[in-house]
Amino acid sequence: MNAFKKSKPAILGGNPFPSNTWPRWPFVSEEDIRRVTDVLKSGNWCRALFAPDSEESMTVRFEQGFARMHQAKYAVACANGTAAIEIALRAAGVQPGDEVIVPAYSFVASATAVLQIGGLPVFADIERDTYCLDPASAERYITANTRAIVVVHMAGRPANMDAIGELAKKYNLVIVEDSAQAHMAEWQRRRVGAIGDVGTFSFQNSKNMTSGEGGIIITDNPDIAEMSYSLQHIGRKKGRPFYEHHYACWNYRLTEIQAAILIGQMDRAEEQNRKRQENAKYLKQLMASIKGLEMLPDDPRVTNHGYHLYMFRVDREQFGLDRDTLVKALAAEGVPYFGGYPIPLYKNPLFQEKNFGVNGFIEGKTIDYRSTHCPVVEQLCPVTMGFAQNVLLGTKENLEMLVETVLRIQKHAYEIAKTV
Ligand SMILES: Cc1ncc(COP(=O)(O)O)c(C=O)c1O
Repeated sequence: MNAFKKSKPAILGGNPFPSNTWPRWPFVSEEDIRRVTDVLKSGNWCRALFAPDSEESMTVRFEQGFARMHQAKYAVACANGTAAIEIALRAAGVQPGDEVIVPAYSFVASATAVLQIGGLPVFADIERDTYCLDPASAERYITANTRAIVVVHMAGRPANMDAIGELAKKYNLVIVEDSAQAHMAEWQRRRVGAIGDVGTFSFQNSKNMTSGEGGIIITDNPDIAEMSYSLQHIGRKKGRPFYEHHYACWNYRLTEIQAAILIGQMDRAEEQNRKRQENAKYLKQLMASIKGLEMLPDDPRVTNHGYHLYMFRVDREQFGLDRDTLVKALAAEGVPYFGGYPIPLYKNPLFQEKNFGVNGFIEGKTIDYRSTHCPVVEQLCPVTMGFAQNVLLGTKENLEMLVETVLRIQKHAYEIAKTV
């Protein structure tokens, strides 16, 4: 068993875990260092130095591999996951003034990307058991101006793509899958991202594949792929002169150095995903012994969970501490945690005060976000938290230590509640 025995929670003065207790993230191999060094020495750090589809480009090689990995025909890498959503929405035909349904429980980029292209995010509620968009709630928000749905596969768990697909068909809507947290996740044996019209991923530092920053768009639609290529490349088109620009847009290119890192990340990703699945199963068994922590039910239609986070809820009465206090106690222990999104997206000052700048402001078309109300998100925000994905890359002993730690915190709940 673990050599590091503890008697008192760290928040009450006990020792925190040594920093090497939990698997380090991100992981770097000697092979990664060699590949990055080769790119550095080559001086070819920008993909624009290569012909658009040249396999000498690390970015092209990564795009091809990532598309295969996600059962998609095309992939276009870009600067980050936020830019990827913006590009995907625009490439899929969303126009200024269009309404886009977005779940109110997500990272803010799922909604701000809509504003960045002049669209209006319309917030819908989530399902209690999945934290993903509730199709019934989404349907209630559809109007004649609705053009698209941004679906978020929250924490790596795919949303109900059957129901959302039917909704899109019924109302002729575009589906953008924000899969920033869901690399390799599967709904009914289909990997997320290209189930809908277009999907996006993030490679920011905490994500299950990372290059510090980075993003990608995947799709089976050649027109969306072609437009996405232009939109990350200052409006250039493949096969046209370099200084001929077709669209007003940004430089959102990924660098060759980032792509070299991502090739190594991709090589290890499937094995790490399998490990997270296995550990999540064991953690669920162990956590069943903790009174007051509620875990999410499994669903056989989720044939592969991405496990970016291991999410659960804290019942203050049953557990003895509220979510925020448990988060503080785990932070003091040095456990990699996710504190939960504290408020529904629409409660951010950005929406309450409509600080949209020049974007998302179409005269005569606006929404009063102060009257938006998604009861499930409002109920779940104060009680939801999770463990970070690298906790699931450790040993069984790591997980046992984690659960012992939570139980120890619970045992001292009364003292902890008095001190915070
Ligand atoms: C659900 C979701 N969407 C979008 C993003 C934005 O990705 P990035 O940070 O790479 O811009 C993130 C992560 O940060 C995310 O978790």
